[in-house]
Amino acid sequence: MSAMTARLVQAAIDAAKTAYAPYSNFHVGAALLLDNGEIVTGSNFENASYGMTLCAETVAIAKANSDGQLRAIREIAVAGGLAGHVGTGADPITPCGRCRQIIKEVADLTQSDIPVHCAYATGYATYRLSELLPHGFGPASLK
Ligand code: THU
Repeated sequence: MSAMTARLVQAAIDAAKTAYAPYSNFHVGAALLLDNGEIVTGSNFENASYGMTLCAETVAIAKANSDGQLRAIREIAVAGGLAGHVGTGADPITPCGRCRQIIKEVADLTQSDIPVHCAYATGYATYRLSELLPHGFGPASLK
């Protein structure tokens, strides 16, 4: 377990504390490691019209983009769980399908099979985006 990855996973767990999730009570945090070593975080942001919910990963990636750092994203950590239990589940929490597609945009832009570190009780599991979204559609598909 690398110290940097452990720090990134902890940043995701901490970010989940800012979740606005009164409907599901499921809090998710995401942390992005940038090429300059900085970390950008996001948390899920729900809405009374449930389907309009923004996931933590999406919030973090849009935040990095609005800071001009979309192409600087190198690694992602995700942690989720019911309030007070983030990162403590028996199995890793992995990004939803829509978030995998949004991560794919970053992977294609940066030409990197981005590692996604997913927290659970005993640490984290690392998956490459290509494992989470095989045969995905991305910017390169439009050529
Ligand atoms: N959620 C995320 O923030 N990221 C994911 O990848 C999975 C789901 C959020 C959406 C919703 O607020 C709550 O978790 C329950 O689905």
